Amino acid sequence: MTANWIVVDQPQLRQRLRQLGLDEALFAGYWSGEQSGDAEPQAVLEYRDGVLQLRPLDRRWGHPLVVDFGQGRSGFRMARAHHEMLVKAVTGRARDPLRVVDATAGLGRDTMLLGAAGFQVTAIERHPLVAGLLSDGLERARLQAESAPVAERVELVVGRAQALLETWPPASRPDVVYLDPMFPARSKAALVKKEMRLFGQLLGEDMDSASLLPPALAAATRKVVVKRPRKAPPLGGQEPGYRIEGKSSRFDVYPVTPG
Ligand SMILES: C[S@@+](CC[C@H](N)C(=O)[O-])C[C@H]1O[C@@H](n2cnc3c(N)ncnc32)[C@H](O)[C@@H]1O
Repeated sequence: MTANWIVVDQPQLRQRLRQLGLDEALFAGYWSGEQSGDAEPQAVLEYRDGVLQLRPLDRRWGHPLVVDFGQGRSGFRMARAHHEMLVKAVTGRARDPLRVVDATAGLGRDTMLLGAAGFQVTAIERHPLVAGLLSDGLERARLQAESAPVAERVELVVGRAQALLETWPPASRPDVVYLDPMFPARSKAALVKKEMRLFGQLLGEDMDSASLLPPALAAATRKVVVKRPRKAPPLGGQEPGYRIEGKSSRFDVYPVTPG
């Protein structure tokens, strides 16, 4: 088998995975030594300068991709999280700090905004490459003074969200479940940076996203919030209770009737 990305089999990388509590078996079939076949991988996951990173093999795809919450716009947005549309959609009229499951965590930008708003967040990610980068970024965020209090409120669980939501312990149901599955049309328009475009290609589309809504509605005690491109149909064709519209995306809100 030849994957379109591979993991460089370095002792330091294996050690970092152990530190992060990530099972090496998560990357089965992706280790460099396991590759055969003709197709060339497009990027490698490696551990360099103390950071887990995805390095495109062709420079035309831009810079290595790392998760760094202390960099660029991320810190600025976290500092004013209460102004974010996502946070407003999740909060609604609630006054107490909420428990939120971010069931499609990706690179964790929304996860950290929810954490910065003061919520306790369980972030779920199933893709090994994404889970690796995010786990490494969260761990580094826990060691930096500005981001530590936020990162401490976030727990990453690696797995398929449908299964996890279906078996959620009744005693600790989340107030809100947030869903932001990959949407095909947005990859070209919104993922501007070259490395993000490559990343979108490596991941592909989330073909099963509609099947996330029923277990999310069953697990949440207050509501499910779904991020969609502005003109996209609602997830699974199911109309939300209401919508919060932004310039390029919108949040579909499904209130849950207490039962
Ligand atoms: C569009 S990205 C999310 C971006 C994220 N909101 C952020 O701010 O970075 C979607 C992510 O959800 C993950 N995903 C999709 N369906 C999933 C599922 N059923 N279980 C767990 N993860 C899933 C994908 O692997 C991908 O990393």
